[in-house]
Amino acid sequence: MTRAIQTQEWVQDKIARGDIEGGMSAGQSGTSIFDPVLCELAYRWFCPPGGPILDPFAGGSVRGIVASKLGRPYLGIDLSARQIAANQEQAARICGAPEPRWIHGDSRDIDSLAAGHSADFIFSCPPYADLEIYSDDPRDLSTLAYPDFLESYREIIAKACALLKDDRFACFVVGDVRGKDGAYYGFVPDTVAAFQAAGMKFYNEAILVTAAGSLPIRAGKQFEASRKLGKTHQNVLVFCKGDPKKATAAIGPVEFGAISEGGDDAEYGEAL
Ligand SMILES: C[S@@+](CC[C@H](N)C(=O)[O-])C[C@H]1O[C@@H](n2cnc3c(N)ncnc32)[C@H](O)[C@@H]1O
Repeated sequence: MTRAIQTQEWVQDKIARGDIEGGMSAGQSGTSIFDPVLCELAYRWFCPPGGPILDPFAGGSVRGIVASKLGRPYLGIDLSARQIAANQEQAARICGAPEPRWIHGDSRDIDSLAAGHSADFIFSCPPYADLEIYSDDPRDLSTLAYPDFLESYREIIAKACALLKDDRFACFVVGDVRGKDGAYYGFVPDTVAAFQAAGMKFYNEAILVTAAGSLPIRAGKQFEASRKLGKTHQNVLVFCKGDPKKATAAIGPVEFGAISEGGDDAEYGEAL
């Protein structure tokens, strides 16, 4: 019996059960949690069915688990061994084949860590410069001053794109960040420039409107004090390696509808 999982409720349910880490919305673990619905759309719209996904900044488990639920192999790299162990434990509990894979390492070495990997899609959410500091590891991009951050960021994007097949898409979710002087770094245009420097075409931009949360309270004060506008969006940037028409042909018709869980309710029930 096909069983639908509504990605958003499913993940919130998992968070409530403590199966996966909360974050952005709940502020539980302090790192942001990635939007599972955005993830599902990105895979269905820009990744060939069954196509392997490469993620140079894996973070939490959402991108790996949604890939598995959509029948796409996933390889994520992250510097945080603790994060990867938590992801693997969660995936082992709720994912069937293809099981998502995570490698603990520095994505500056993605060319050797993922040697021989031929990706059909690159999808990631990098550190937004120093907006969230993930560790005190000197290799951690979030610990770097912006010029050093950008240098490593460009290197990792170039190496990841080299592992992407021709006539394929890549997508990064980013948001601009203010430096200590209050001015934006220009992280969004720098991301576009980094992909273009890697030979990719800047192909689409979508805006992910995020929950305002406490912004209305915060924005008033900062606008009064320094005319800073508050931000409730992130930028979904899509790039293409080669011919967008061939990349689209490789994906085929747009996927809609329920995600089949395979097996029956009982089996599905047990997995929860
Ligand atoms: C935006 S995050 C993840 C946030 C969010 N939890 C998510 O799931 O999208 C970025 C991740 O990049 C990782 N990271 C930072 N520097 C790295 C590096 N040099 N190589 C690999 N991963 C790195 C951090 O450990 C963090 O988990």
